[in-house]
Amino acid sequence: MQRPVRIAPSILSADFANLGQEVRAMTAAGADYIHVDVMDGHFVPNITIGPAVVAALRPHSTLPFDVHLMIAPVDPFIAEFAAAGADIITIHPEAGHHLHRSVQHIKGLGKKAGIAINPATPVSVVDHLLGDIDLILVMSVNPGFGGQDFIPATLDKLTALRQRIDASGRTIDLEVDGGINEATGPQAVAAGADILAAGSACFRGGPSAYADNIQRLRDTPTVVRSSASGG
Ligand code: DX5
Ligand code: ZN
Repeated sequence: MQRPVRIAPSILSADFANLGQEVRAMTAAGADYIHVDVMDGHFVPNITIGPAVVAALRPHSTLPFDVHLMIAPVDPFIAEFAAAGADIITIHPEAGHHLHRSVQHIKGLGKKAGIAINPATPVSVVDHLLGDIDLILVMSVNPGFGGQDFIPATLDKLTALRQRIDASGRTIDLEVDGGINEATGPQAVAAGADILAAGSACFRGGPSAYADNIQRLRDTPTVVRSSASGG
């Protein structure tokens, strides 16, 4: 089975003084999603942006907004991010008490639901939710900052999740997030990822480099794999 690699530039690495322009430039450069990292200074040791900024950016791109919530408690803010224009809402199991309920909440708002798995979180956390979710986000760094080094041990988690997804027969995207570049991207894809979230590797060099940056990540050698779902 061949999987096209999709690229989700994380605006965490964009010029925050020109976010609208940055999102337009990434959209024109061929990105597949806009990855929005939301941090609260509590669940993770950094603060970024809230729903007002997501709403302000919405008119600047037709791409799906892949909104990665690193906030706790997450439940009180899910509806606000949905209303602001998120298309995919990804949450961490540690950010609430009832993961299944939170997933149902996202689905009930008509949005795609994702679960983010930290480096130390076991992949089995998704086992009873495979029938409900649309995306699994494997964190290949500890969440909180851009520009960190990829943690190689997370490759085995991608492999394990790829098997689970294929065995489920459902369409569930497998995204990897953190330290993705020309060297680590191909490893993640070989292990089973089909969406690469990348901040530094997408935004480096400024707008004139964005199209090349995306193409380099996308050109990651396509992996031919057999799978239970048959492709
Ligand atoms: C980390 C964020 C990532 C991060 C990726 O908490 O979830 O999306 O911005 O940045 P790079 O690609 O620079 O590691
Ligand atoms: Zn992210």
